[in-house]
Amino acid sequence: MKSPRDFFKPLAAGAPEPLREIPVRPSRVIHFFPPHVEKLVAKLPELVPTTDILLGTLEDGIPMAEKQAARTSLVKIGKSVDFGSTQFWTRINSLDSPWALDDVTTLVTEIGDKLDVVMVPKVEGAEDIHYIDRLLAQLEARVGLKKPLQLHAILETARGVTNVEAICAASPRMQGLSLGPADLAADRQMKTTRVGGGHPDYIVRADPQEGVAERATYQQDLWHYTLARMVDACVTYGILPFYGPFGDIKDTVGCEDQFRNAYMLGCVGAWSLHPTQIDIAKRVFSPRPADVKQAQRVIDAMGDGTGAIMLDGKMEDDASARQCEVVVSLARQLAARDPELAAAYGFSK
Ligand code: GLV
Ligand code: MG
Repeated sequence: MKSPRDFFKPLAAGAPEPLREIPVRPSRVIHFFPPHVEKLVAKLPELVPTTDILLGTLEDGIPMAEKQAARTSLVKIGKSVDFGSTQFWTRINSLDSPWALDDVTTLVTEIGDKLDVVMVPKVEGAEDIHYIDRLLAQLEARVGLKKPLQLHAILETARGVTNVEAICAASPRMQGLSLGPADLAADRQMKTTRVGGGHPDYIVRADPQEGVAERATYQQDLWHYTLARMVDACVTYGILPFYGPFGDIKDTVGCEDQFRNAYMLGCVGAWSLHPTQIDIAKRVFSPRPADVKQAQRVIDAMGDGTGAIMLDGKMEDDASARQCEVVVSLARQLAARDPELAAAYGFSK
């Protein structure tokens, strides 16, 4: 076991000091792109200002024959594209693949100063984070990086879910977790064939009623348990929880519902697999202006934030004021970087 005093010491001589806090930056949407597809790469400069995070993926979705080309292209992108205030992330291949080591070595050496976060898929336990943590420190020291790279793990195996707290606590580099419903479904032997979202076979049915032939059924959220568990683990360790992919690009309503469930449960953002999902995620993960207004009303009415009051016939107290603070402070964080949102919330500079 490590002494708490050593937790924030660099893991290699000359590596930058680990961050103590995750930098506050809008993180409502992680837009994925395949770096080997030239047509999509050409559109990156247009996409940059529309998304909070742009992620070049090297893992699933990139054919084996293109793995090298995708990595090489990502290096080129990192060196040539101006990301402005948009975060630049990558998803490397899984640690048990033949590509992961070269992914990390090449990317940190070539564009380590451009990358904000390295997303690691199929993380199963703290040992995976320890491995990459040390490797990153060695490479950072060799290249002379001033800012440590952060780590984001995808929760997409049963063992990963079982070890979720240990994964969050494994390193001060940990920035967040994403739920990976597609791989998680496969690993758990769930009987689904889709990427995220609900399923018509996962339902509850209304009780039988005399004279009523049709019993209503309601689809349930397949991901509720894992999301809730992930959010608790992330918050406990001060890192950020995200919902992952929603594969049915045309089902914008289903996507919005899935994202909103994650938002309501405490997630800060979700993945986007198509530009249409960028707008959905940004809308869902920004508090609604009416909710911000109501939250501010409660805070104002609560005065010093203690005690209990009646507002519109409802009891509000310290705990509801604290909930309202969550909504208003997220709105303020987002509005600080988005004048349109600031206007919608009625925040004056
Ligand atoms: C994402 O990587 C997933 O498997 O859902
Ligand atoms: Mg996956």
